[in-house]
Amino acid sequence: MTKSEDLLHMLQEASGQFVSGEEISRHLSISRTAVWKHVNKLRDMGYEFEAVSRKGYRLVTKPESIDATGLQLSLGTKVFGRKAVMLGSTLSTQGDIQKLAEEGEAEGAVVFAEEQTGGRGRFGRKWFSPPGKGIWMSVLLRPELPLHHTPQLTLLTGVAVCRAVRACTGAEAGIKWPNDLLIDGRKMCGILLESALEDHEVRYCIAGIGVDANFDPQDYPEDLRQIATSIKIETGQTVNRTELAAAILTELEHLYFLYQKEGFGVISSLWEALSVSLNRKITVTNPHGVIEGTAVGLDPSGALIVEGPDGERELIVSGEVNWQS
Ligand code: BTN
Repeated sequence: MTKSEDLLHMLQEASGQFVSGEEISRHLSISRTAVWKHVNKLRDMGYEFEAVSRKGYRLVTKPESIDATGLQLSLGTKVFGRKAVMLGSTLSTQGDIQKLAEEGEAEGAVVFAEEQTGGRGRFGRKWFSPPGKGIWMSVLLRPELPLHHTPQLTLLTGVAVCRAVRACTGAEAGIKWPNDLLIDGRKMCGILLESALEDHEVRYCIAGIGVDANFDPQDYPEDLRQIATSIKIETGQTVNRTELAAAILTELEHLYFLYQKEGFGVISSLWEALSVSLNRKITVTNPHGVIEGTAVGLDPSGALIVEGPDGERELIVSGEVNWQS
């Protein structure tokens, strides 16, 4: 047990009564200042304490965590999420599910973590994943798909999460190509689709989903404050992460099975209806340079069609989209 866990255990055992700082410091063999630091660390994780001089500390509320039993009860799926691994802290759920995939785990398995210490985003960026504030999850897919169709899965995942967020929380989320979810222009969810290949064949894919559910403004570091937001900030309501996670998996399975049966057309229409990128002047930055134009739709493969000022159309398969000011 870490010192923080030990401290938590002590306060939980006290059943809401105060435990003096002196008693904690003696029991944990740490200084009173260190006790205070551990209390603050637990506060960052969503625990609430009352601290009163001469009385000590009292545990007031515990954070709601993503709960395995609740998830099973809320799922409307046959396969997705039926095998779910719940982790406290991990480097990245992408790595954890990859390990399971290599061991032969079946499609639909999912790994959740309360915290990621090395969360990964697109283009090798870091993904800020503090404890208890978001849904950090990776889903294993084993599609029979040519490699050049995997971007369709990226778009499909974006549609599934967007529909789940809207239905479960009422937040007016929209999709920025390819699959960032925004509310009122700020990003509240990112999706990272990674594929494992052998001889150019897809062995499996991992859909990594990060939803900023219950961040308060002060939870964001300075550099993210202007560009990121959470569902809680936008709706004023705390999100039940277990229910939202179940809704995401339910939508994902539904759309994935539909896609396998009917093809990409129906997913493309759903994506276009939820898109905040279409009919806007955008710039796309990718390794080939910067493209300016108006996003007019998706082509049958899932590439974004951008029409330049001269009316010439270009297909974009990867890149970062920004609005033109
Ligand atoms: C992005 O917008 O850059 C994609 C972010 C994807 C973040 C999720 S959180 C769960 C999974 N584990 C990771 O390390 N990344 C993805």
